[in-house]
Amino acid sequence: MLVANPISFACEMIEAIPESTALYLWNSDLLIPNRFWKERIGEMSRLSDISRLNVDVSALARTMMSLAPDSDIRFADIPLDLQNYRHLQVSQVPEHPDLYFFLLRDETEVRRVEQMRKDFIANVSHELRTPLTAVRGYVETLMDPKFLTIERVREFLPVIFEHTERLHNLMLDLLSLSRLENPNTVIELTPISLLEELEDAVEATAPLARMKNLTVEIRPPAEDLRVLANSEHLERVLVNLLDNAIKYSTPNAPIIISTEIEGDCIWTHVSDQGPGIAPEELPRVFERFYRTKGALSGRVQGSGLGLAISKHIIQQLGGEIRVSSTLGQGSDFFFSLRLATKAAKTLA
Ligand SMILES: Nc1ncnc2c1ncn2[C@@H]1O[C@H](COP(=O)(O)OP(=O)(O)OP(=O)(O)O)[C@@H](O)[C@H]1O
Ligand SMILES: [Mg+2]
Repeated sequence: MLVANPISFACEMIEAIPESTALYLWNSDLLIPNRFWKERIGEMSRLSDISRLNVDVSALARTMMSLAPDSDIRFADIPLDLQNYRHLQVSQVPEHPDLYFFLLRDETEVRRVEQMRKDFIANVSHELRTPLTAVRGYVETLMDPKFLTIERVREFLPVIFEHTERLHNLMLDLLSLSRLENPNTVIELTPISLLEELEDAVEATAPLARMKNLTVEIRPPAEDLRVLANSEHLERVLVNLLDNAIKYSTPNAPIIISTEIEGDCIWTHVSDQGPGIAPEELPRVFERFYRTKGALSGRVQGSGLGLAISKHIIQQLGGEIRVSSTLGQGSDFFFSLRLATKAAKTLA
């Protein structure tokens, strides 16, 4: 194929590459970025503009000169950060000693996902190790005839049961998460009574609240409103939020469940007067396995999955979940659901 103007042909070619690329004409000091480069990094027209990428431009120019057409080295890779996530690759275009090709490789997102996967495996292993080590230790002791007495069996069995329960719950939580994260999962929505769900969740967590001498007050909607949801999933969210409000609160501090209508949605708030969450930790509490420093140093057990599961469920139900909290004063977790019948009345 005969190309009349190789430079304009090269410019058309780089526009077709779905990566941040640019051409550089050495003799006229002209940098021609493609649209991906312009969108991600901004407009540039001279070699000196590349200093915006934290590149030493004189060193870059020397590297480019070493990529002479008669040399064996045609390609250079310049790291743009200490972690080696971003690189600028430069090559000299064969047969055109004046022309250079730049490609910006950004692996930040790929590395982030890779790190998340590694953290996930490390967290799961850690969560499994603690109860498994405990169960193993107790069973090993009982297997030694010197230690096997009926008193020890009576003492150890409830502890073994508690640890196996923890393992069982962890496994159920992980299964739920993987189902909810599957893009093919669809939760069927039907109109259900919000008040009934609130009452069921309060009843399910009543023994825990009683143990801590905490009252849970429902400020009910003015009328029996129906929301578009799935009873089993909605109850799971409410129980998770109430479980947290109860377990992280100090005894005697009341918990309040209230509702508020906004357009065709209804927000449900679960507010406590517990220790609250520091502002820098707030955005992370919905992450899988995240537990605040306070929770990690305290005696309250948990694997940090409850809120991650709740967030996925609420998203699947078409709503949003948020938190506002003040250290030392308490937390308010609230989520929205679509009303099945649009009600205009104000709620309590
Ligand atoms: N009401 C609350 N008050 C204070 N801190 C809270 C509250 N709710 C959640 N948190 C913090 O957010 C973290 C994440 O909560 P999440 O429910 O996901 O996990 P968990 O309670 O630790 O474990 P589990 O998987 O058993 O629910 C908790 O570990 C705690 O640090
Ligand atoms: Mg929890």
